[in-house]
Amino acid sequence: MIDKIKELIEEAEAFTTQSKEEVEAFRIKYLGSKGLLKAYFAEFKNVANEQKKEFGQTINQLKKTAEDKVNALKEELESKEETKSVYGDLSRPGEPIEIGARHPISIVKNQIIDIFSRIGFNVSEGPEIEDDWHNFTALNLPEYHPARDMQDTFFIQTDPDILLRTHTSSVQVRYMENNKPPIRTISPGRVFRNEAISARSHCFFHQVEGLYIDKDVSFADLKQTLQYFTTEMFGKSKIRLRPSYFPFTEPSAEVDVYWGLETETDYKMTKGTGWLEIMGCGMVDPNVLENCGIDSKTYSGFAFGMGIDRIALLLHQISDIRLLSENDVRFLEQFKSAL
Ligand code: DAH
Repeated sequence: MIDKIKELIEEAEAFTTQSKEEVEAFRIKYLGSKGLLKAYFAEFKNVANEQKKEFGQTINQLKKTAEDKVNALKEELESKEETKSVYGDLSRPGEPIEIGARHPISIVKNQIIDIFSRIGFNVSEGPEIEDDWHNFTALNLPEYHPARDMQDTFFIQTDPDILLRTHTSSVQVRYMENNKPPIRTISPGRVFRNEAISARSHCFFHQVEGLYIDKDVSFADLKQTLQYFTTEMFGKSKIRLRPSYFPFTEPSAEVDVYWGLETETDYKMTKGTGWLEIMGCGMVDPNVLENCGIDSKTYSGFAFGMGIDRIALLLHQISDIRLLSENDVRFLEQFKSAL
């Protein structure tokens, strides 16, 4: 009988499984209330006295082996389950990774930055919460100047000195205050105006400001730069400058690019004229240079400002400006193939 028990010990030691049910069956077989050990312990009284010691030791050894085995297997299976719940099923094939899309505003902004960086413009930024000086006064728009009404302003609480910038021209001022000419910089950013939200206008949108200050900068340089830009951006080199008014530039102009009238969309986009207005520009007013600590007798320069949203709507045939800020994935996903 002792030999039989020793066999069982070996068997128990060798036992292994991945299934909880089999561990339980093993436990019942050896340690259960009707199990082998119970039977052998009951047998103890019938064992000859001189064998009692060895018999006792052997069944105790079997008991310990079986108990250890059950505990070890349970622990092993439980720890496996834990790993499973943390990592899921590691043998499953991976989920395909969804590729994101750049926002149309970013696409257009990056294109503009790229085009101007090729002719030596760097990128500068300024705060969206501005003070009156940088957004208005330094730009030749003193208090009570009627042109302030052109831009419905959001003021911060009760302090009329602090506002949400209405244009990125404020960055011009900051840049000139902090840098000496020659200056070649473009400043993209978000701007805010207290306007009713509709398909065509929003209370926040995006602009890129351009500024070039050096000795002997002329209007011809401005026109050449704009022509380079429209050619690179739209593939159209025919532009016209219409006289206009901005307090911070003199003379000022509105830039139209000749889009053409080849398709029905061209007709729609240009309202049948073939021309599209894309930005405002001009020679920086000497007052603005002086306000920013630049000697207007030595230096001159040009500036321009354009709306990124407008260009994005045009280029991607988007009919409603609100789509640009609604974050509807079905809309955004369409730009996956763009830059
Ligand atoms: N700040 C103007 C606006 O928001 C755009 C603009 C026009 C900027 C002419 C300029 C400029 O720098 O020279 O409508």
